[in-house]
Amino acid sequence: MAQFHNLKVTDIHRTIRDAVVLTLEPDDRTAFDFIQGQYLTFRREFDGEELRRSYSICSGRAEDKLQVGIKRVEGGAFSTWANEELKVGETLEAMAPMGGFHTPLDPGAEKQYLGFAGGSGITPVLSIIKTTLEVEPKSTFTLVYANKGVATIMFREELEDLKNQYLGRLSVIHVLEQDAQEIDLFTGMVTEEKCAQLFRTWVDVESIDTAFICGPEPMMLGIAKALRDHGLDDAQIKFELFASAQPGRLPKKAVSQEAGKTANQAEVAITLDGSTQTISAAKDITVLDAARANQMDAPYACKAGVCSTCRCRVIEGEVEMVANHALEDYEVEKGYVLSCQSYPVTDRVVVDYDQ
Ligand SMILES: Cc1cc2nc3c(=O)[nH]c(=O)nc-3n(C[C@H](O)[C@H](O)[C@H](O)COP(=O)(O)OP(=O)(O)OC[C@H]3O[C@@H](n4cnc5c(N)ncnc54)[C@H](O)[C@@H]3O)c2cc1C
Ligand code: FES
Repeated sequence: MAQFHNLKVTDIHRTIRDAVVLTLEPDDRTAFDFIQGQYLTFRREFDGEELRRSYSICSGRAEDKLQVGIKRVEGGAFSTWANEELKVGETLEAMAPMGGFHTPLDPGAEKQYLGFAGGSGITPVLSIIKTTLEVEPKSTFTLVYANKGVATIMFREELEDLKNQYLGRLSVIHVLEQDAQEIDLFTGMVTEEKCAQLFRTWVDVESIDTAFICGPEPMMLGIAKALRDHGLDDAQIKFELFASAQPGRLPKKAVSQEAGKTANQAEVAITLDGSTQTISAAKDITVLDAARANQMDAPYACKAGVCSTCRCRVIEGEVEMVANHALEDYEVEKGYVLSCQSYPVTDRVVVDYDQ
């Protein structure tokens, strides 16, 4: 399941000073047949330590290419390497596309979509915009795109081209933190208040079927609150988070001194790639770490409750999930958990990575 495939870098395009778009040619093309809004998880060793990082696919489904956009994070290991050292012709390793940041498309639909992106959060939204406008010829898309200034807008020209290609069906509102614009409302941060102002004059939020939000967490929370206040329900709001402002994991409460060694142990049956292994695991170790400590190749990337790569379903028993920035309520109700954030609570737990 956590199988990595080889992808050759066939092109590197610098979209702004601090971001590159990689075009990738997978060895196994069918494994990389993606849904708009999904991401790839790459792995690479840095100084002998394996790092896994996720990057959203920015190409549309109808384009015959696989692309990701990587913005350099100050001091960031993978993003700096990708921006400064990676060369065309090199081979990367990535898992098949994952993620649920999308809604089903229907060529007969006539929908109004709204997207909010902050900085590199444009990548999955761009894939969604391109695919939606192509597949649903009667639907429209409004994008509110937040950046520091003009120089940091990723895909600025590509968005202009898309506006021309899908005349009247795509509108883009650039909100710039630092650069002044003709319309005052378009300068500053995208906050709950700014959204309320936008909804008064620029975006008819009542007509919106689905809103997609991807950006820094505080911005996302403000936008979601404004959308809810203006009548959208949770099912109409889709999120993708790149990094959490909170630590990935809340401190795990210490197991009581009195609790004997056995009380701290759980029997965990784990199904992965069609086979089931039952292991004995300490209750203060996550299900993911327990699986990996027993040589099971359970999938993961961020280990911070953000990406959902480690998702599995609890079939029996109970676990405590201490952070969740990725799963939606309906998934949690069905028993899905993030195994990197889940500790066994009952003495027997059965989980399935294959569902
Ligand atoms: C589902 C998913 C999809 C993603 N898609 C994209 C994408 O399309 N494009 C893209 O550029 N990134 C994307 N990311 C973020 C990406 O995975 C990495 O977190 C980011 O590139 C930093 O990794 P690094 O190894 O360079 O930095 P690290 O070495 O991990 O971090 C260095 C420092 O930067 C801080 N930091 C880590 N991540 C961020 C961040 N995102 N913003 C600001 N500071 C940060 C850390 O706290 C640390 O202090 C995505 C993340 C997720 C979970
Ligand atoms: S590995 Fe990212 S949520 Fe668990």
